[in-house]
Amino acid sequence: MPLPHHTDITDGLRLTPARISPKYFYDQRGSELFEAITRLPEYYPTRTETALMQWHAEDIARVIGPGRTLIELGAGNCQKARSMCRLVQPACFVGVDISADFLQSAVQGLRDEFPGLDARAVGGDLTQGIDLPDDIPRSGRLVFYPGSSIGNFDPPHALQLLAYMRALVDEDGGLLIGIDLPKDVAVLEAAYDDAAGVTAAFNRNVLTHVNRLIGSDFDIDHWQHRAFFNAQESRIEMHLESIQAVQVRWPGGARMFAPGERIHTENSYKYPLSVFTDMLARAGFGHAQAWTDERGWFAVVHARP
Ligand SMILES: C[S@@+](CC[C@H](N)C(=O)[O-])C[C@H]1O[C@@H](n2cnc3c(N)ncnc32)[C@H](O)[C@@H]1O
Repeated sequence: MPLPHHTDITDGLRLTPARISPKYFYDQRGSELFEAITRLPEYYPTRTETALMQWHAEDIARVIGPGRTLIELGAGNCQKARSMCRLVQPACFVGVDISADFLQSAVQGLRDEFPGLDARAVGGDLTQGIDLPDDIPRSGRLVFYPGSSIGNFDPPHALQLLAYMRALVDEDGGLLIGIDLPKDVAVLEAAYDDAAGVTAAFNRNVLTHVNRLIGSDFDIDHWQHRAFFNAQESRIEMHLESIQAVQVRWPGGARMFAPGERIHTENSYKYPLSVFTDMLARAGFGHAQAWTDERGWFAVVHARP
C-alpha cells in the first residue's frame, strides 16, 4: 500500500480530470531540469526578475537593510540567495525546500562563498508548515519567495501561504516576493513549452518521481506535455496527455486513461499587481512597495506587516 503521506497522489490520480501536485516535480532530476529551464531563451521569469533586482539594487538594499535573517522558501539552487547575500548582507540565511538533497549542496555552496554567513538548509514541504530550527531569531526576519512560485497556488491557497509567511515574521519583519504579471499569451505559452523540450522533460519527470513514491507503473513514453494559457483563470496550465489508452497500476489501485485524457500537473497564475497587493493586505502585509522591469512583465514586491 502507498505510504499514508502519499495518499494525496493516489487520491489525485482517481479524480477526473486527474491531478498531481506540482510539488512532486522536484526530485533531484526535477530540480536539475528546473535549473535548465531557467536558462532557456523562452523562460523570461528568472532573467527578468534577476535583471530588475539588479536595476533597483540600491533601492532594495536601502529598504531592507543589512543584518537580517533571510528565510528563502523554495530556495532551489540558491542562485537568488547568492545575489541577495551580496545585496543585503544578512546575518543568517535559512533555505527551505522540498528537494532536500539538492538544497543541502546549494547551501554548502553559499557557505563556501560567504564564510561568515550562518547558512542553514531545511528540507520540508511548506504546504504542511515548516519547523524552523529553534535558534533562528524571530526579530529582523525577511521572508524571500522569488520566482513567482506563489503563482503555483490557486488564489485561496496563495492567500493561506501569504498568511503563513506573515506568521513567520514579527512587526519588524518583511517579505520580498516575485510576481509574474499578465502579458502577451504567445510570450507566456512559449515560456512553458520551449523549443528544446526541457519543460516537457520536466513535466514528464513527475511520473518517474510518482512511480518511485507510490510504486505505480507509469510509462512516460505514453504521455506528452501540454501547456496553454487559460485566460478566464489568468493562469498557465500544464498537463500530461495520454497518447494512447493506458492503464496505470499502483499497490492498492489502478486507473484507465483514454487516449487524449489529461493529468493536470501545474498552474501558474499571473496576477495584476493591484490584485496581488490586495491579497498581501488581506494576509496581514499592509505596506507594499513594488519594483517592475521596463516591459512590466514581472514585479518584485517588498511588503511589511
Ligand atoms: C519554481 S522553483 C523556484 C526556485 C527558485 N526559488 C527560483 O526562484 O528560481 C520552485 C522551488 O520550490 C520548491 N518547492 C516546490 N514546492 C514546494 C513545497 N511544497 N515545499 C517546499 N519547497 C517546494 C522546489 O523544489 C523548487 O526549488
